[in-house]
Amino acid sequence: MIERFNDGRDWFFEKRFGLFVHWGLYAIPAWHEQLQWRGRVPREEYVKLAAQWNPTHYNPDAWLDLAAQVGMKYVCFTTKHHEGFCLWDTQQTDYNTMHTPYGRDVLAMLAEACHRRHVPLCLYYSCVDWHHPNYPNQGRHHELAGPLPGDEPDHAKYLEFLKAQVRELCTHYGEIHGFWWDMNVEEHVDPSINAMIRQLQPKAVINNRGYDEGDFGTPERDYDKGVDDTLTFERLTEACQSVGTQSWGYRQDEDYYADRHLIRSLDKYLARGANYLLNIGPMADGTLPDAASTVLQRIGQWYNGVQESLEDVVPVSHLTSNRDVLLTRRHNTLYVHLYRDPIAESVSLKPLNLVPQRATLLNNGQAVEWAVDLVPSDHIEHQPYLRLCKLPVNELANTVLVVKLEFDDLPAAMMKTETTLNQNDLLTR
Ligand code: GLC
Repeated sequence: MIERFNDGRDWFFEKRFGLFVHWGLYAIPAWHEQLQWRGRVPREEYVKLAAQWNPTHYNPDAWLDLAAQVGMKYVCFTTKHHEGFCLWDTQQTDYNTMHTPYGRDVLAMLAEACHRRHVPLCLYYSCVDWHHPNYPNQGRHHELAGPLPGDEPDHAKYLEFLKAQVRELCTHYGEIHGFWWDMNVEEHVDPSINAMIRQLQPKAVINNRGYDEGDFGTPERDYDKGVDDTLTFERLTEACQSVGTQSWGYRQDEDYYADRHLIRSLDKYLARGANYLLNIGPMADGTLPDAASTVLQRIGQWYNGVQESLEDVVPVSHLTSNRDVLLTRRHNTLYVHLYRDPIAESVSLKPLNLVPQRATLLNNGQAVEWAVDLVPSDHIEHQPYLRLCKLPVNELANTVLVVKLEFDDLPAAMMKTETTLNQNDLLTR
């Protein structure tokens, strides 16, 4: 069980699903947020994009409207990605949105909308920098082959620049609820940087990709196979995923994930106690691409139906030995998540043998049949177990089914959150 902070950072336990937004100059060529590196675009060519930055249709309220519709409760925004271009009025470099045809502080506009709507705002910031002359680019992963002409590699100086920027971000935009570091290629350790954030922004949760371990882990896409073997996360975790398979920034010709893949991914993390950031890349004009917005809306239809099973709950998958389902609990209510391909229309919750007062499929509000009886395959133990029956696994095959089981009273042993419970403690008859 993950302990709460007992301070302003605890908002992170209440708001579980967030919108990740990757926006920068890369939205203009619309291929990938790492175009400069992956596409091998010379820096002197890439910087010319700043002269085209003019997102005249940028309206942060439209982004937040979509997030609200989907059920997302917070936002994480790229203030500076690896390209080095800054989306706020920074005094530390001219490579920012003020020095473009648009000439406005993009972050200030987003922060104003978030504060007005009480949506927690977290800031993404890239440690690696493909523009700053002091960043020691030397051809490691996610680095330019450098130094480039005009560069003066000096990591200590670069960190001074970075700290000055972090100070701006933590002092000019009101309350900041999180800091999301990325790509500390140097693997440099300096806890004083997060200490500064904590002092300036006590509500900020900090991820583990910066200059110390921070507050939470950040499994990305489906790279972390180990998650399938865990019942619940030992450390505070926020998974991240993009709606497109290739890019986090806007990609014109994007290959989007299947809804079912995203829904399962969301459920497998949220039901194990992790938070989840789902990403979209706005286009160069500031609007959100239709295809990506539609994906989010469809995910939202599922999420809004089942969200009571994922918010303000504890992960309790240890209560069953059935590894094809995940369980969450709030008070006397259990939620059964069929997050893997159901192989049959029934699901056994062995060794549970309790009688629910009510069983409801959250996806469509319909009652679910159940039984506590002996099935032939359990003849050796000769025990009756709780079984959900006749689930619409063929009709609703493209989603994750979640069944709500309401009990009069759950045995005390089930209220514990330890994952080492003796399974016999769970048998009540
Ligand atoms: C990966 C990508 C990076 C993106 C990040 C978000 O590290 O390389 O571009 O910003 O994921 O988690």
